[in-house]
Amino acid sequence: MVRGRRRAAPAALPASGAATQVRNILSLPARRKTGRAANLPAHPDRAPDIVLAMSSVVVQPAARVRGRVPVPGDKSISHRYALLAALAQGRSTIDGYAPGADCASTLACLRALGVRVEGPRPAGGAGGRPVVTVDGRGVGGFGAPAGPLDAGNSGTTLRLLSGALAGHRFTSVITGDRSLRRRPMRRIIEPLSRMGARVTGDGDRPPLTIAGSRLEGIDYTPPVPSAQVKSAVLLAGLHASGETTVRESAATRNHTELALPMFGAELREVDGGVTLRGGQRLRAAGLTVPGDLSSAAFWATAAAALPGSDVTLEDVGLNPTRTGILAWLQRAGAVVDLLEVIEGAGERRGSIRVRHGGNRALTVGPADVPGLIDELPVLAALATHGGELHVTGAGELRHKESDRISALADGLRALGGHVEETADGFHVAGAPPLRGGEADAAGDHRLAMAFAVAALGARQPSRIRNAEAVDVSYPGFFDVLASLCVTRQESVP
Ligand code: S3P
Repeated sequence: MVRGRRRAAPAALPASGAATQVRNILSLPARRKTGRAANLPAHPDRAPDIVLAMSSVVVQPAARVRGRVPVPGDKSISHRYALLAALAQGRSTIDGYAPGADCASTLACLRALGVRVEGPRPAGGAGGRPVVTVDGRGVGGFGAPAGPLDAGNSGTTLRLLSGALAGHRFTSVITGDRSLRRRPMRRIIEPLSRMGARVTGDGDRPPLTIAGSRLEGIDYTPPVPSAQVKSAVLLAGLHASGETTVRESAATRNHTELALPMFGAELREVDGGVTLRGGQRLRAAGLTVPGDLSSAAFWATAAAALPGSDVTLEDVGLNPTRTGILAWLQRAGAVVDLLEVIEGAGERRGSIRVRHGGNRALTVGPADVPGLIDELPVLAALATHGGELHVTGAGELRHKESDRISALADGLRALGGHVEETADGFHVAGAPPLRGGEADAAGDHRLAMAFAVAALGARQPSRIRNAEAVDVSYPGFFDVLASLCVTRQESVP
Protein backbone atom coordinates (compact mmCIF):
# COMPACT_ATOMS: atom_id res chain seq x y z
CA MET A 1 0.00 0.00 0.00
CA VAL A 2 1.03 3.54 -0.59
CA ARG A 3 0.03 5.67 2.32
CA GLY A 4 0.23 9.33 3.07
CA ARG A 5 1.25 10.46 -0.38
CA ARG A 6 1.26 14.18 -0.70
CA ARG A 7 -0.32 14.47 -4.10
CA ALA A 8 -1.54 12.42 -7.01
CA ALA A 9 1.09 10.68 -9.08
CA PRO A 10 2.20 12.43 -12.24
CA ALA A 11 0.29 10.62 -14.95
CA ALA A 12 2.31 7.45 -15.33
CA LEU A 13 0.15 4.97 -17.16
CA PRO A 14 0.76 1.32 -16.30
CA ALA A 15 0.89 -0.55 -19.59
CA SER A 16 -0.95 -3.46 -18.01
CA GLY A 17 -3.94 -1.14 -17.62
CA ALA A 18 -4.41 -2.36 -14.06
CA ALA A 19 -3.38 0.37 -11.69
CA THR A 20 -4.48 -1.73 -8.76
CA GLN A 21 -1.91 -4.35 -9.67
CA VAL A 22 0.91 -2.07 -8.64
CA ARG A 23 -0.44 -0.47 -5.51
CA ASN A 24 1.38 -2.63 -3.01
CA ILE A 25 4.85 -2.18 -4.44
CA LEU A 26 5.91 0.19 -1.70
CA SER A 27 4.66 1.76 1.42
CA LEU A 28 5.33 5.17 2.82
CA PRO A 29 4.74 6.32 6.33
CA ALA A 30 2.65 9.46 6.44
CA ARG A 31 4.65 12.03 4.49
CA ARG A 32 4.31 15.18 6.46
CA LYS A 33 4.18 18.18 4.19
CA THR A 34 5.55 20.48 6.72
CA GLY A 35 6.19 24.12 7.20
CA ARG A 36 5.12 26.20 10.10
CA ALA A 37 1.45 25.36 9.68
CA ALA A 38 2.21 21.70 10.29
CA ASN A 39 3.67 22.65 13.65
CA LEU A 40 6.92 20.85 13.07
CA PRO A 41 10.31 22.23 13.91
CA ALA A 42 12.00 23.88 10.96
CA HIS A 43 14.79 21.82 9.48
CA PRO A 44 17.89 23.88 10.25
CA ASP A 45 19.19 23.58 6.72
CA ARG A 46 16.20 24.56 4.66
CA ALA A 47 14.20 27.66 3.99
CA PRO A 48 11.06 27.57 6.17
CA ASP A 49 8.73 27.16 3.20
CA ILE A 50 10.36 23.94 2.00
CA VAL A 51 10.84 22.17 5.30
CA LEU A 52 10.49 18.44 4.90
CA ALA A 53 10.01 15.81 7.53
CA MET A 54 12.32 12.83 7.55
CA SER A 55 10.68 9.84 5.97
CA SER A 56 11.48 6.33 4.99
CA VAL A 57 9.97 4.27 2.23
CA VAL A 58 9.59 0.52 1.96
CA VAL A 59 10.16 -0.83 -1.54
CA GLN A 60 8.82 -4.28 -2.34
CA PRO A 61 10.59 -6.57 -4.80
CA ALA A 62 9.12 -6.37 -8.30
CA ALA A 63 8.78 -8.77 -11.19
CA ARG A 64 9.08 -6.06 -13.84
CA VAL A 65 8.27 -2.44 -14.67
CA ARG A 66 5.87 -1.45 -17.41
CA GLY A 67 4.32 1.81 -18.51
CA ARG A 68 4.73 5.28 -19.97
CA VAL A 69 6.23 8.09 -17.90
CA PRO A 70 6.17 11.82 -18.60
CA VAL A 71 9.44 12.78 -16.96
CA PRO A 72 9.80 16.11 -15.07
CA GLY A 73 11.76 18.93 -16.70
CA ASP A 74 15.54 18.84 -16.88
CA LYS A 75 17.18 20.28 -13.79
CA SER A 76 20.42 21.47 -15.42
CA ILE A 77 18.58 23.18 -18.25
CA SER A 78 15.98 24.78 -15.95
CA HIS A 79 18.67 26.42 -13.81
CA ARG A 80 20.34 27.86 -16.90
CA TYR A 81 17.18 29.14 -18.55
CA ALA A 82 16.10 30.85 -15.32
CA LEU A 83 19.50 32.48 -14.76
CA LEU A 84 19.87 33.67 -18.33
CA ALA A 85 16.26 34.89 -18.39
CA ALA A 86 17.04 36.93 -15.28
CA LEU A 87 20.00 38.50 -17.09
CA ALA A 88 18.01 39.16 -20.26
CA GLN A 89 15.92 42.17 -21.15
CA GLY A 90 12.19 41.54 -21.19
CA ARG A 91 9.89 38.75 -20.10
CA SER A 92 10.92 35.14 -20.73
CA THR A 93 8.64 32.16 -20.43
CA ILE A 94 10.04 28.78 -19.41
CA ASP A 95 7.73 25.91 -20.10
CA GLY A 96 8.41 22.60 -18.34
CA TYR A 97 10.50 24.07 -15.52
CA ALA A 98 11.95 21.34 -13.27
CA PRO A 99 9.73 20.81 -10.22
CA GLY A 100 12.31 19.89 -7.55
CA ALA A 101 13.70 21.89 -4.65
CA ASP A 102 17.01 22.58 -6.44
CA CYS A 103 15.45 24.61 -9.23
CA ALA A 104 13.16 26.31 -6.71
CA SER A 105 16.34 27.45 -4.94
CA THR A 106 17.53 29.15 -8.13
CA LEU A 107 14.22 31.02 -8.42
CA ALA A 108 14.33 32.02 -4.75
CA CYS A 109 17.85 33.43 -5.16
CA LEU A 110 16.82 35.35 -8.27
CA ARG A 111 13.86 36.86 -6.41
CA ALA A 112 16.23 37.91 -3.64
CA LEU A 113 18.26 39.70 -6.31
CA GLY A 114 15.24 41.74 -7.33
CA VAL A 115 14.15 39.64 -10.30
CA ARG A 116 10.41 39.31 -10.78
CA VAL A 117 9.63 35.62 -11.15
CA GLU A 118 6.15 34.16 -11.50
CA GLY A 119 5.49 30.49 -10.97
CA PRO A 120 6.16 27.68 -11.23
CA ARG A 121 2.48 27.51 -12.15
CA PRO A 122 1.61 23.83 -12.01
CA ALA A 123 0.08 22.03 -14.94
CA GLY A 124 0.27 25.05 -17.20
CA GLY A 125 2.95 23.87 -19.57
CA ALA A 126 3.49 21.23 -22.20
CA GLY A 127 2.16 17.88 -21.00
CA GLY A 128 1.06 19.44 -17.71
CA ARG A 129 4.55 20.63 -16.81
CA PRO A 130 5.06 23.82 -14.78
CA VAL A 131 5.56 27.23 -16.37
CA VAL A 132 7.76 30.03 -15.03
CA THR A 133 7.92 33.61 -16.27
CA VAL A 134 10.93 35.79 -15.53
CA ASP A 135 11.17 39.56 -16.00
CA GLY A 136 14.86 39.97 -16.68
CA ARG A 137 16.94 42.88 -15.37
CA GLY A 138 19.62 42.77 -18.08
CA VAL A 139 23.26 41.71 -17.82
CA GLY A 140 24.71 43.29 -14.66
CA GLY A 141 21.23 44.35 -13.53
CA PHE A 142 20.71 42.35 -10.33
CA GLY A 143 19.89 44.32 -7.19
CA ALA A 144 21.94 43.84 -4.01
CA PRO A 145 20.26 41.19 -1.84
CA ALA A 146 19.07 42.06 1.65
CA GLY A 147 20.70 38.99 3.19
CA PRO A 148 22.58 35.79 2.34
CA LEU A 149 21.37 33.92 -0.71
CA ASP A 150 20.31 30.35 0.07
CA ALA A 151 21.10 27.80 -2.64
CA GLY A 152 19.65 24.98 -0.49
CA ASN A 153 21.05 21.64 -1.67
CA SER A 154 21.90 22.90 -5.14
CA GLY A 155 25.54 23.04 -6.24
CA THR A 156 24.46 24.23 -9.67
CA THR A 157 22.61 27.22 -8.17
CA LEU A 158 25.56 28.18 -6.01
CA ARG A 159 28.26 27.81 -8.63
CA LEU A 160 26.44 29.30 -11.62
CA LEU A 161 25.00 32.20 -9.67
CA SER A 162 28.45 32.96 -8.22
CA GLY A 163 29.68 33.43 -11.78
CA ALA A 164 26.95 35.96 -12.50
CA LEU A 165 27.40 37.72 -9.13
CA ALA A 166 31.13 38.14 -9.71
CA GLY A 167 30.28 40.81 -12.28
CA HIS A 168 27.86 42.79 -10.08
CA ARG A 169 29.27 45.74 -8.11
CA PHE A 170 27.97 44.72 -4.72
CA THR A 171 28.93 42.18 -2.13
CA SER A 172 26.79 39.11 -1.75
CA VAL A 173 26.96 36.02 0.39
CA ILE A 174 25.77 32.70 -0.96
CA THR A 175 25.34 29.60 1.14
CA GLY A 176 23.35 26.39 1.30
CA ASP A 177 22.35 23.43 3.41
CA ARG A 178 24.73 21.22 5.37
CA SER A 179 25.47 19.04 2.35
CA LEU A 180 26.24 22.02 0.10
CA ARG A 181 28.38 23.65 2.78
CA ARG A 182 30.78 20.69 2.67
CA ARG A 183 31.29 20.83 -1.11
CA PRO A 184 34.51 22.20 -2.63
CA MET A 185 34.41 25.69 -4.12
CA ARG A 186 38.10 26.33 -4.91
CA ARG A 187 37.17 25.32 -8.46
CA ILE A 188 35.12 28.52 -8.92
CA ILE A 189 36.96 30.76 -6.43
CA GLU A 190 40.13 30.39 -8.48
CA PRO A 191 38.91 31.40 -11.97
CA LEU A 192 36.51 34.09 -10.71
CA SER A 193 39.33 35.63 -8.66
CA ARG A 194 41.57 35.57 -11.71
CA MET A 195 38.89 37.49 -13.58
CA GLY A 196 38.96 40.22 -10.93
CA ALA A 197 36.25 39.36 -8.38
CA ARG A 198 37.08 38.97 -4.71
CA VAL A 199 35.65 35.63 -3.68
CA THR A 200 36.29 34.09 -0.29
CA GLY A 201 34.86 31.02 1.36
CA ASP A 202 35.09 29.16 4.59
CA GLY A 203 38.39 27.78 3.33
CA ASP A 204 37.39 25.90 0.21
CA ARG A 205 33.71 25.75 1.20
CA PRO A 206 30.52 27.85 1.32
CA PRO A 207 29.37 30.30 2.45
CA LEU A 208 31.04 32.29 -0.31
CA THR A 209 31.37 36.04 -0.04
CA ILE A 210 31.54 37.56 -3.49
CA ALA A 211 32.68 41.14 -3.87
CA GLY A 212 31.75 41.75 -7.49
CA SER A 213 34.01 43.90 -9.57
CA ARG A 214 35.02 44.96 -13.07
CA LEU A 215 35.98 41.66 -14.61
CA GLU A 216 38.40 40.79 -17.35
CA GLY A 217 38.01 37.83 -19.66
CA ILE A 218 40.31 34.83 -19.26
CA ASP A 219 41.29 31.73 -21.16
CA TYR A 220 40.62 28.94 -18.71
CA THR A 221 40.80 25.15 -18.63
CA PRO A 222 39.26 23.73 -15.43
CA PRO A 223 41.66 21.18 -13.89
CA VAL A 224 38.73 18.80 -13.39
CA PRO A 225 36.16 18.87 -16.21
CA SER A 226 32.96 20.38 -14.78
CA ALA A 227 29.91 21.87 -16.47
CA GLN A 228 29.23 23.95 -13.37
CA VAL A 229 32.68 25.53 -13.42
CA LYS A 230 32.54 26.09 -17.19
CA SER A 231 29.13 27.75 -16.83
CA ALA A 232 30.20 29.93 -13.88
CA VAL A 233 33.15 31.25 -15.89
CA LEU A 234 30.99 31.88 -18.96
CA LEU A 235 28.39 33.75 -16.89
CA ALA A 236 31.16 35.87 -15.38
CA GLY A 237 32.53 36.32 -18.90
CA LEU A 238 29.25 37.83 -20.00
CA HIS A 239 29.94 40.63 -17.50
CA ALA A 240 33.67 40.94 -18.33
CA SER A 241 35.62 43.09 -20.71
CA GLY A 242 37.23 41.26 -23.60
CA GLU A 243 36.74 37.61 -24.41
CA THR A 244 36.39 34.66 -22.10
CA THR A 245 37.37 31.20 -23.29
CA VAL A 246 36.71 27.95 -21.46
CA ARG A 247 38.39 24.79 -22.69
CA GLU A 248 37.77 21.24 -21.54
CA SER A 249 39.98 18.18 -21.40
CA ALA A 250 36.79 16.07 -21.57
CA ALA A 251 33.40 17.24 -22.79
CA THR A 252 30.86 18.03 -20.09
CA ARG A 253 27.18 18.90 -20.56
CA ASN A 254 26.87 21.88 -22.89
CA HIS A 255 23.50 23.30 -21.89
CA THR A 256 24.93 26.76 -21.15
CA GLU A 257 26.54 26.94 -24.59
CA LEU A 258 23.25 25.90 -26.21
CA ALA A 259 21.16 28.26 -24.07
CA LEU A 260 23.21 31.45 -24.55
CA PRO A 261 22.42 31.76 -28.29
CA MET A 262 18.73 31.21 -27.52
CA PHE A 263 18.94 34.48 -25.56
CA GLY A 264 20.70 36.16 -28.48
CA ALA A 265 24.33 35.83 -27.33
CA GLU A 266 27.09 34.97 -29.79
CA LEU A 267 29.53 32.20 -28.96
CA ARG A 268 32.40 30.79 -30.99
CA GLU A 269 33.84 27.33 -30.90
CA VAL A 270 37.60 27.31 -30.43
CA ASP A 271 40.13 24.54 -30.07
CA GLY A 272 38.75 22.33 -27.29
CA GLY A 273 36.33 24.94 -26.00
CA VAL A 274 34.16 27.96 -26.49
CA THR A 275 34.68 31.75 -26.51
CA LEU A 276 32.24 34.44 -25.45
CA ARG A 277 32.60 38.22 -25.89
CA GLY A 278 31.78 40.17 -22.75
CA GLY A 279 29.26 42.99 -22.66
CA GLN A 280 26.72 41.30 -24.91
CA ARG A 281 23.07 41.90 -24.19
CA LEU A 282 20.65 39.06 -23.76
CA ARG A 283 17.08 39.28 -25.01
CA ALA A 284 14.12 37.47 -23.47
CA ALA A 285 13.05 34.15 -24.96
CA GLY A 286 10.24 31.62 -24.89
CA LEU A 287 11.71 28.23 -24.02
CA THR A 288 10.62 24.68 -23.42
CA VAL A 289 12.59 22.43 -21.09
CA PRO A 290 12.75 18.75 -22.12
CA GLY A 291 12.29 15.98 -19.56
CA ASP A 292 15.33 15.19 -17.45
CA LEU A 293 17.27 12.20 -18.78
CA SER A 294 19.02 11.85 -15.41
CA SER A 295 15.58 11.34 -13.81
CA ALA A 296 14.39 9.12 -16.67
CA ALA A 297 17.55 7.05 -16.10
CA PHE A 298 16.01 5.45 -13.00
CA TRP A 299 13.09 4.04 -14.99
CA ALA A 300 15.30 3.14 -17.95
CA THR A 301 17.61 1.23 -15.63
CA ALA A 302 14.78 -0.50 -13.79
CA ALA A 303 13.48 -1.64 -17.20
CA ALA A 304 16.96 -2.79 -18.21
CA ALA A 305 17.29 -4.73 -14.95
CA LEU A 306 14.02 -6.67 -14.77
CA PRO A 307 13.12 -9.28 -17.40
CA GLY A 308 9.78 -8.61 -19.10
CA SER A 309 10.01 -4.85 -18.51
CA ASP A 310 8.91 -2.32 -21.11
CA VAL A 311 8.98 1.38 -20.25
CA THR A 312 8.55 4.45 -22.46
CA LEU A 313 9.91 7.76 -21.19
CA GLU A 314 8.15 10.65 -22.88
CA ASP A 315 9.75 13.81 -24.22
CA VAL A 316 13.17 13.56 -22.63
CA GLY A 317 16.27 15.63 -23.40
CA LEU A 318 18.62 13.74 -25.72
CA ASN A 319 21.57 16.11 -25.70
CA PRO A 320 24.56 13.90 -26.66
CA THR A 321 26.51 15.14 -23.62
CA ARG A 322 23.85 13.47 -21.46
CA THR A 323 22.89 10.28 -23.28
CA GLY A 324 25.87 8.25 -22.04
CA ILE A 325 23.62 6.22 -19.77
CA LEU A 326 21.59 4.91 -22.70
CA ALA A 327 24.72 3.59 -24.41
CA TRP A 328 25.77 1.89 -21.17
CA LEU A 329 22.37 0.26 -20.74
CA GLN A 330 22.66 -1.02 -24.31
CA ARG A 331 26.12 -2.37 -23.56
CA ALA A 332 24.62 -4.23 -20.61
CA GLY A 333 22.11 -5.80 -23.01
CA ALA A 334 19.04 -3.55 -22.82
CA VAL A 335 17.01 -2.79 -25.93
CA VAL A 336 16.80 1.00 -26.21
CA ASP A 337 14.75 2.68 -28.96
CA LEU A 338 14.56 6.43 -29.55
CA LEU A 339 11.13 7.57 -30.73
CA GLU A 340 9.85 10.89 -32.09
CA VAL A 341 13.24 12.57 -31.92
CA ILE A 342 13.13 16.34 -32.48
CA GLU A 343 16.34 18.04 -33.60
CA GLY A 344 16.80 21.74 -34.21
CA ALA A 345 17.87 24.85 -32.41
CA GLY A 346 18.56 24.25 -28.75
CA GLU A 347 18.16 20.90 -27.10
CA ARG A 348 17.54 17.61 -28.89
CA ARG A 349 14.61 15.72 -27.40
CA GLY A 350 12.49 12.63 -27.92
CA SER A 351 10.93 9.62 -26.24
CA ILE A 352 12.82 6.53 -25.18
CA ARG A 353 11.57 2.95 -25.01
CA VAL A 354 13.63 0.58 -22.86
CA ARG A 355 13.26 -3.19 -22.55
CA HIS A 356 15.30 -5.74 -20.66
CA GLY A 357 17.70 -7.80 -22.77
CA GLY A 358 20.48 -9.02 -20.47
CA ASN A 359 22.74 -7.71 -17.75
CA ARG A 360 26.34 -7.98 -18.91
CA ALA A 361 29.32 -6.80 -16.83
CA LEU A 362 30.41 -3.19 -17.42
CA THR A 363 33.72 -1.40 -16.93
CA VAL A 364 33.60 2.40 -16.69
CA GLY A 365 36.92 4.25 -16.97
CA PRO A 366 38.01 7.85 -16.32
CA ALA A 367 37.20 9.03 -19.87
CA ASP A 368 33.62 7.77 -19.53
CA VAL A 369 32.92 9.49 -16.23
CA PRO A 370 32.02 13.09 -17.30
CA GLY A 371 29.24 11.78 -19.56
CA LEU A 372 27.85 9.52 -16.88
CA ILE A 373 28.59 11.34 -13.64
CA ASP A 374 25.01 11.58 -12.33
CA GLU A 375 24.06 8.10 -13.51
CA LEU A 376 26.81 6.08 -11.84
CA PRO A 377 24.68 5.32 -8.75
CA VAL A 378 21.86 3.87 -10.82
CA LEU A 379 24.31 1.91 -12.98
CA ALA A 380 25.58 0.42 -9.71
CA ALA A 381 21.98 -0.49 -8.89
CA LEU A 382 21.72 -2.28 -12.25
CA ALA A 383 24.78 -4.38 -11.37
CA THR A 384 23.07 -5.62 -8.20
CA HIS A 385 20.47 -7.29 -10.42
CA GLY A 386 23.01 -9.89 -11.52
CA GLY A 387 25.46 -7.88 -13.61
CA GLU A 388 28.76 -6.42 -12.50
CA LEU A 389 30.19 -2.90 -12.53
CA HIS A 390 33.76 -1.71 -12.20
CA VAL A 391 34.27 2.07 -12.00
CA THR A 392 37.57 3.97 -11.92
CA GLY A 393 38.42 7.67 -12.31
CA ALA A 394 35.25 8.83 -10.58
CA GLY A 395 36.77 10.60 -7.54
CA GLU A 396 34.43 13.54 -8.29
CA LEU A 397 31.62 11.41 -6.87
CA ARG A 398 33.03 12.05 -3.41
CA HIS A 399 32.14 15.76 -3.82
CA LYS A 400 28.48 15.43 -4.75
CA GLU A 401 25.42 15.84 -2.50
CA SER A 402 27.01 13.10 -0.40
CA ASP A 403 30.27 11.24 -0.67
CA ARG A 404 28.63 9.20 -3.39
CA ILE A 405 31.25 6.45 -3.34
CA SER A 406 31.05 5.69 0.38
CA ALA A 407 27.33 6.29 0.78
CA LEU A 408 26.55 4.24 -2.33
CA ALA A 409 28.74 1.35 -1.16
CA ASP A 410 27.25 1.50 2.36
CA GLY A 411 23.68 1.55 1.08
CA LEU A 412 24.07 -1.27 -1.43
CA ARG A 413 25.89 -3.38 1.14
CA ALA A 414 23.08 -2.77 3.61
CA LEU A 415 20.72 -4.22 1.01
CA GLY A 416 22.96 -7.28 0.72
CA GLY A 417 25.16 -6.19 -2.19
CA HIS A 418 28.83 -7.01 -2.65
CA VAL A 419 30.55 -3.67 -3.14
CA GLU A 420 34.19 -2.70 -2.82
CA GLU A 421 35.12 0.94 -2.54
CA THR A 422 38.34 2.47 -3.93
CA ALA A 423 39.66 6.02 -3.72
CA ASP A 424 38.19 6.95 -7.09
CA GLY A 425 35.61 4.30 -7.79
CA PHE A 426 33.97 1.06 -6.78
CA HIS A 427 33.26 -2.48 -7.84
CA VAL A 428 29.82 -4.08 -7.61
CA ALA A 429 29.69 -7.83 -7.98
CA GLY A 430 26.09 -8.62 -8.70
CA ALA A 431 26.02 -12.41 -8.67
CA PRO A 432 23.38 -13.41 -6.08
CA PRO A 433 20.15 -11.39 -5.83
CA LEU A 434 20.12 -8.79 -3.07
CA ARG A 435 18.76 -9.92 0.26
CA GLY A 436 16.93 -6.65 0.96
CA GLY A 437 17.52 -4.52 4.02
CA GLU A 438 17.65 -0.93 5.15
CA ALA A 439 19.70 1.65 3.24
CA ASP A 440 20.29 5.28 4.14
CA ALA A 441 19.98 7.78 1.28
CA ALA A 442 22.28 10.08 3.27
CA GLY A 443 20.32 13.14 2.14
CA ASP A 444 21.22 12.41 -1.48
CA HIS A 445 18.39 12.32 -4.02
CA ARG A 446 20.20 10.19 -6.57
CA LEU A 447 21.12 7.60 -3.93
CA ALA A 448 17.53 7.37 -2.67
CA MET A 449 16.36 6.62 -6.22
CA ALA A 450 19.25 4.27 -7.04
CA PHE A 451 18.58 2.25 -3.86
CA ALA A 452 14.92 1.97 -4.87
CA VAL A 453 15.94 0.55 -8.27
CA ALA A 454 18.31 -1.91 -6.57
CA ALA A 455 15.62 -2.91 -4.06
CA LEU A 456 13.27 -4.00 -6.85
CA GLY A 457 15.53 -7.01 -7.41
CA ALA A 458 15.86 -8.06 -3.77
CA ARG A 459 14.41 -11.20 -2.23
CA GLN A 460 12.74 -9.26 0.56
CA PRO A 461 11.32 -5.74 1.00
CA SER A 462 13.82 -2.95 1.64
CA ARG A 463 13.54 0.25 3.60
CA ILE A 464 15.14 3.43 2.30
CA ARG A 465 15.77 5.95 5.02
CA ASN A 466 15.75 9.70 4.39
CA ALA A 467 13.91 9.04 1.17
CA GLU A 468 12.48 12.57 1.07
CA ALA A 469 15.76 13.56 -0.61
CA VAL A 470 14.08 12.66 -3.92
CA ASP A 471 12.23 15.98 -3.71
CA VAL A 472 15.46 17.73 -4.68
CA SER A 473 15.06 16.60 -8.28
CA TYR A 474 12.04 14.31 -8.57
CA PRO A 475 9.03 15.01 -6.34
CA GLY A 476 6.57 12.17 -6.85
CA PHE A 477 9.30 9.64 -7.67
CA PHE A 478 7.87 6.96 -5.38
CA ASP A 479 4.36 7.44 -6.73
CA VAL A 480 5.62 6.83 -10.25
CA LEU A 481 7.55 3.80 -9.00
CA ALA A 482 4.35 2.41 -7.53
CA SER A 483 2.49 2.92 -10.80
CA LEU A 484 5.16 1.24 -12.93
CA CYS A 485 5.93 -1.85 -10.88
CA VAL A 486 4.29 -5.23 -11.26
CA THR A 487 4.82 -7.24 -8.09
CA ARG A 488 6.01 -10.83 -8.13
CA GLN A 489 2.70 -12.16 -6.80
CA GLU A 490 0.80 -10.26 -9.46
CA SER A 491 3.01 -11.62 -12.21
CA VAL A 492 2.22 -15.26 -11.32
CA PRO A 493 -0.04 -16.52 -14.16
C1 S3P B 1 25.66 19.85 -13.40
C2 S3P B 1 26.95 19.42 -13.60
C3 S3P B 1 27.52 18.23 -12.95
C4 S3P B 1 26.42 17.34 -12.40
C5 S3P B 1 25.39 18.10 -11.63
C6 S3P B 1 24.72 19.13 -12.54
C7 S3P B 1 25.21 21.06 -14.09
O1 S3P B 1 28.35 18.65 -11.86
O2 S3P B 1 26.97 16.34 -11.59
O3 S3P B 1 24.40 17.23 -11.14
O4 S3P B 1 24.00 21.32 -14.16
O5 S3P B 1 26.07 21.79 -14.60
P1 S3P B 1 29.90 19.05 -12.08
O6 S3P B 1 29.94 20.27 -12.91
O7 S3P B 1 30.42 19.28 -10.70
O8 S3P B 1 30.53 17.86 -12.74
